Amino acid sequence: MLPSQRHLFDIPREVAYLNAAAWSPLPLAVQEAGRAGVARKGRPWDLDPGLGAFQHERCRAAAAALIGAAAEDVALISSVSYGVATAGKIFAPPAGTRVLVLQDDHSSPVLEWMARAASQGFTVDAVQRPADGDWTAAVAEAIARPGAPVSLASISNVHWSDGGVIDLLRIAPLLRAKGAALLVDATHGAGVMPIDVKAIDPDFLIFPTYKWVLGPYGRAFLYVARRRQDGVPLEQTPFGRKSVSSERVPYFADLDYAPTARRFDMGERDHFIGLDMAATGMEMMAGWGQAAIAERCAMLTGLLEERLAAAGALLPRRSLRAPHILCVSFRGGMPAGLADQLARLGAYAAPRLGRLRISPHVYNDEEDVERFVASFAQVVRQAA
Ligand SMILES: Cc1ncc(COP(=O)(O)O)c(C=O)c1O
Repeated sequence: MLPSQRHLFDIPREVAYLNAAAWSPLPLAVQEAGRAGVARKGRPWDLDPGLGAFQHERCRAAAAALIGAAAEDVALISSVSYGVATAGKIFAPPAGTRVLVLQDDHSSPVLEWMARAASQGFTVDAVQRPADGDWTAAVAEAIARPGAPVSLASISNVHWSDGGVIDLLRIAPLLRAKGAALLVDATHGAGVMPIDVKAIDPDFLIFPTYKWVLGPYGRAFLYVARRRQDGVPLEQTPFGRKSVSSERVPYFADLDYAPTARRFDMGERDHFIGLDMAATGMEMMAGWGQAAIAERCAMLTGLLEERLAAAGALLPRRSLRAPHILCVSFRGGMPAGLADQLARLGAYAAPRLGRLRISPHVYNDEEDVERFVASFAQVVRQAA
């Protein structure tokens, strides 16, 4: 079992931070990369002219390694919503078709399609939260439903508000059989679950750095399948074209779009403070290894499950939830102000759509679990 990696973070012993699904603390090494980046921008004359290219490719490779992709199939972007907007520009669901989303999925993989539906003549079909918690079966049923054909599923692989898993290896072939595309929001999957784009073969897969992969805000990654790489990028940039160079005349020498997913890189991708931080966090994740991280998180959520059940929490079926996320619900609804009161006791989790979402990472240990459960029991007892 991977031991606790708390020593690599700046987390006081009395803080039980079980909220990585909201935003993770930065490892000390990532903070240091950020400081070094700021200092570099303070002395731009010292910058190596090759630094930008080195950093893009280092970051691209680190992101690709977490999802089994080739680096050139990954674009450097700023957020999940940026990636979905790019997908919306590359792929237009035909009129008369359905785009599947999950009920109350995070706004990022949903709103782009809602915004386009009326003008492009397709409908957005929200798969309702299944009473038994089995999202995979519910999505499979929705794909099979007769009526308007499904052209796209734009779904998270873990539901952000209940921790339910959507088994992409089961869903992807069902979509392919219908000729439908697949966009995966892997925010709560990349780095912590076995996500391999070679096996899933999604059209698009997107994840940010600021939660599970221990990086900064403003950095995310978009995998684009080769069959979709001839689309027009969201932004028009010089590096998105074959030859637009500020150091050569003619300036606009070759306006064909650049090959590979690099054409979809965001404007100002050279944000080398964030790039270095993001690469450092993702390389740490790869160093521990996805399976070892998942095993540690599963051990912690398993312990939480046992202890919280004894304190009266309602828990989802373990086989249907992500190993690293435990969402607790309550018979009479979540006590008002629960998360705030827990925070006052040094125990951190997130209230999400009526559930308390608890999400440990490699820096957590059994003492955090004890502290969290004791705080939880105290607050719930007081509320009752
Ligand atoms: C499932 C999911 N997708 C995306 C995001 C963040 O999206 P964006 O990068 O567009 O801000 C979150 C943040 O909570 C999330 O939970």
